[in-house]
Amino acid sequence: MNDLGRLRVRDLSVTFRVPGALVRAVSEATFEVRPGRCLALVGESGCGKSVLAHALLGLLPANASVRGRAWLTCGEQPAEPVELIGAPQAVLAGKVRGRAIGLIPQSPATHLTPVRTARAQLREAVRELRSHATADELAARFGLRPEELDRYPHELSGGMAQRVANAIALAGDPWLVLADEPTGGLDRSLVDRTMATLRELCDEGRAVLLITHDLRAAERVADDLAVMYAGRLVETGPVAEVLGRPRHPYTAGLVAAQPDRAFVPVPGLPPELTRLPPGCAFRPRCGRHTERCATVPAMDGGVACHHPLGGRHA
Ligand SMILES: Nc1ncnc2c1ncn2[C@@H]1O[C@H](COP(=O)(O)OP(=O)(O)O)[C@@H](O)[C@H]1O
Ligand code: SF4
Ligand SMILES: [Mg+2]
Repeated sequence: MNDLGRLRVRDLSVTFRVPGALVRAVSEATFEVRPGRCLALVGESGCGKSVLAHALLGLLPANASVRGRAWLTCGEQPAEPVELIGAPQAVLAGKVRGRAIGLIPQSPATHLTPVRTARAQLREAVRELRSHATADELAARFGLRPEELDRYPHELSGGMAQRVANAIALAGDPWLVLADEPTGGLDRSLVDRTMATLRELCDEGRAVLLITHDLRAAERVADDLAVMYAGRLVETGPVAEVLGRPRHPYTAGLVAAQPDRAFVPVPGLPPELTRLPPGCAFRPRCGRHTERCATVPAMDGGVACHHPLGGRHA
């Protein structure tokens, strides 16, 4: 296991052409995930998190158009960055998916073949990706008992299917782990176990991009946080700093909506990605807006807001 594995993403945008409209799913995302660190990407459902992850792996459908760049520097010396956006499918399939980058998918059921047992699928991944670990070792890491591996996907609970998918994602010993809502359908003890495993992966030197709408999970596992609103990153920084002293009004709203805080949801709804308002997309829900907010605020010092909280621009 090498400890190099740095993902750099610059101005990544994804749009989908649908009849009569353009879905602006991701707008100009710029961020970095470093080896040995976990970056949590948080935001409400539908804000573009999974689309961003799929863009990095070349897994978007034909109606998608992707702009911007993303590089993964892998652990071979000299470390040649692999260009991810626009890479031929043969490169993505042969070098990236499952090997350089392991994807823990949001809907594991769609990633498992219905007619083969979990063990057969895990063994295939172990063989194809030349894993150092056995199927049973990988399964044990995610709390699966050996006899559970003999089941077919329809005989697995949602939680078990998720754990099988997690084990498959790690079979290729990837440098970067993309975990897209890895705890969906899991009970509290398995959430804890999965989160502890993600932390271990970081501590072994891998880079982890954790996609979640669960701020508490992000707070427990991640080192850094990136907050996404309507396809755009609005605040980034060390997780304790961002959640302890949010500067973007949307981040402040998310923090206040937590059950252990005021438990007051952010008023209003996010905009349709086919009809983003001009300027700052949070403007219709923001109590601090002024006429300056009619232009899109640039990311400056970790916050993209014309009037950040607690800052010198307030
Ligand atoms: N193939 C597609 N065609 C059109 N729109 C899509 C397609 N895939 C995703 N979208 C839209 O992109 C937006 C972001 O979706 P997604 O990334 O799945 O959100 P989430 O943050 O919940 O993971 C949503 O509005 C979704 O409807
Ligand atoms: S740019 Fe303006 S509207 Fe947007 S979050 Fe900041 S203050 Fe609110
Ligand atoms: Mg998603």
